[in-house]
Amino acid sequence: MSGSLDLRDGCELVTYPDHKQLNEILSFDDDISNFDDEISNFICIIEFSSRIGNLHRIFDDCTTSGKLDMGKTVKNSDATVLGDVPVTNVTRHYDFTISRSQISVDGVLRDTILVNDQFPGPAIEANWGDWIEVVVHNNITAPEEGTALHWHGMLQRGTPWADGTPGDAQCPIAPGKSYTYRYQAELYGTSWYHAHYSAQYTGGVAGPMQIYGPSSQDYDIDLGAVMLTDWNHVPYFSIVTDVVGTDFSKIPPRSDNLLINGRNSFNCSTPSYDNSTEWLGSNLKSSINWTCVEDAPLSKFQFQTGKTHRLRLINHGADGVQKFSIDGHSFTVISVDYVPVVPYTTNTITLAVGQRTDVLVTANNNSAKSYYMRTTTTGGDACGQSSAKEALAVVYYSSADTSTFPAYTSPTTPAKDCASDPLPSLVPSYPLKPSSNPYQQDLTLSLGRNSTGNFEWQINSQTYRANFNEPLLYDAAAGNTSNTFETQDKKNPLFNIFDFGSNSSVLLNVTNNTPVGHPFHLHGHNFYVLASGHGVWDGSLLGSANPSRRDTQWIDVGGYVVLQFEADNPGVWPFHCHVAWHLSGGLAINVATRTDEIVPIPKGTREQTCVDWDAYTKRDEVDQIDSGS
Ligand code: C2O
Repeated sequence: MSGSLDLRDGCELVTYPDHKQLNEILSFDDDISNFDDEISNFICIIEFSSRIGNLHRIFDDCTTSGKLDMGKTVKNSDATVLGDVPVTNVTRHYDFTISRSQISVDGVLRDTILVNDQFPGPAIEANWGDWIEVVVHNNITAPEEGTALHWHGMLQRGTPWADGTPGDAQCPIAPGKSYTYRYQAELYGTSWYHAHYSAQYTGGVAGPMQIYGPSSQDYDIDLGAVMLTDWNHVPYFSIVTDVVGTDFSKIPPRSDNLLINGRNSFNCSTPSYDNSTEWLGSNLKSSINWTCVEDAPLSKFQFQTGKTHRLRLINHGADGVQKFSIDGHSFTVISVDYVPVVPYTTNTITLAVGQRTDVLVTANNNSAKSYYMRTTTTGGDACGQSSAKEALAVVYYSSADTSTFPAYTSPTTPAKDCASDPLPSLVPSYPLKPSSNPYQQDLTLSLGRNSTGNFEWQINSQTYRANFNEPLLYDAAAGNTSNTFETQDKKNPLFNIFDFGSNSSVLLNVTNNTPVGHPFHLHGHNFYVLASGHGVWDGSLLGSANPSRRDTQWIDVGGYVVLQFEADNPGVWPFHCHVAWHLSGGLAINVATRTDEIVPIPKGTREQTCVDWDAYTKRDEVDQIDSGS
C-alpha cells in the first residue's frame, strides 16, 4: 500500500489521504493480511470489518486487547451525570477540508460540498471520554460560502463555543480560513457531524461519529455507521430559494432519491432536474447538464454466519422520515440517539432527520445467502416523502456469491405514517427521573408569510434569523445581554431568544399547527419525552419514573410533544426543527439558560472566527437568503 496513514497520539489512525485507493485495497475479496503487515508496527490493534468500500476501525485503548473496559456499564453510569465521564487523556485529531465538487453517488452528477472530498464525510471515532480535535479549513469557492461544523448531540458542557452554530456559538468560518474545534466525547454511541450553515449539509457536508463505550447488550462485530438520507440532485441553494419563496407548492421539495451509505442507483429515463433550475448562489448558475449513468453500485455489507452485528443507523437527511429494514432479519434496539436503552426487538426502524438507532442483527441464516437492506420514506409530504421508492443495499453472508444480487422480494410495507417507534419501548438503561416543578413554556409552531409574501416558519408567531456577525453565546458570556438579548419580542425579535434565567428545569410543551411533521432537536442536552400525541396536551404524562430521553423528537402533524430538560449546561442553545428546509425558513428558537454561569470563553476564540468573518463581510456581501442555520 502506498499513500500515508497519519498517526498521532500513539494509538490513532487519523485520516485517509486517498479514500479511493483504500476502496480498491479493501475491496470485498481482498486479503487484508498484506495491509495488516504494513501497519503491524502501529501500537494499537486495528481491526477491519468486512464492510465493502469502507475501512472500519475499532479503537483499542492501547492497554487492553479486546473491548474497552472502563469499569462502567450502561446501568451504572450516565454521561449526563457530571463526573461519570471517564478520563482517558487521549485526543483524537482530525483534519477536514471543506470544498465544492461534482459527484454522482447514484449515477446522477450533481454539485456538492464535501469534507475531504468524501461522501459521506470521514468517520470521527473516539472512545468515551476522549477529546476530539478537528481542524476545519473552509475551501469553498465559486461561489464562496461560510461554514461551521456541529457535532450533533454532543453536550459541549464546558465548551459551548465548540458547538458549531453560526450566529450562536461562533461566526461562520470565512472562506479561505480555518478554525479548530476541541471538545470532549461526553456521550457514547452513534451520531453525526454536519455543517450548520444554511442548508449546506444537504449538499454533502455530513459524516458519522462513533463513540465507543459500554453497550446494553453484547455483540460480536461492529459494522459501523449505516447512513440513511434523502438526496436531491439540484444544488441546495436552489431548493432553499424555493422553500423561502412565495409558491406554496414548492414548500415540500420532494427529494429525488434515497441513499444508504451514500449509494443507490437511479432510473436515468426520468431526469430529475432541468438545467435552468440549478443555482449555486444568487448570481451563479451550475455548470452541470443532465448526466446520468444507470446501475450505480449499491452499498454492500458482510454478515458472519451465526454472529451478532451492530449497525449504527443515522438519518442525516434533509427532510424524509426513513423506515429501515433488512429482508429476513429482525433488530434488537440497544441505543437511541446517544442514550442506551433496555433492548427490545422490532422489524422496522423509523428515523426522523437527526435521529439515530443502534441495532443488533444476528446472522441466523444459511451462509451462502444474501439479502436486501432497504430504507424507504412513506407517509406522504407531511413526512418528507421522496420521489424514490426506496434505497437498497446488499447484505452478503460469509460464503455468498458477491457477484450476484439477492432475489427481489416485495418488502412488507411499513406503516404509512411517520410516527417514531412507540415511546414506551424506549426505556433508558440508566434510569433518570426528571426534576419536579419545571418551568413550563408553551410553544406553537405555525407557517406564515412575511411582509413580502415569502413563507416563513414561526414559533409563537416569530421566525428566526441568525446574525452571523453577532454570536449570541459570546454576548451572553460577556454579560452583554441587554444589547442583543432581551426576550422574544424585544429588540431583536429575529434572534427568537427564550431566556429561562436561573430555572433549573424547563418543560417545553410544543404544539404543531402546521400541515407537516417536524423532528425537533435541542443542542447541549438530552431531553425527556414526557408526552406526545394529537391535538393539544391535556397535562397527562406517559410516566415519569424513567421517561425516554433523546436529543431529537418527532412531532406529528396536528400533534404535540412535551419535552423536559435539566438546565445543567449554561449557554445559548438552539432548539430547532431538523428538516433543513424548515430550519432555513426560520423554525428555531434559542434557549438561554443560566447565562451568568457560562464558562468564560477562552481568549482568542471570538477572534478566530469573527475577525476573519467581519473582514470578509466588509469585502463581500453575504448571500444570506435564509435563517442562516
Ligand atoms: Cu444536527 Cu442544530 O443540529
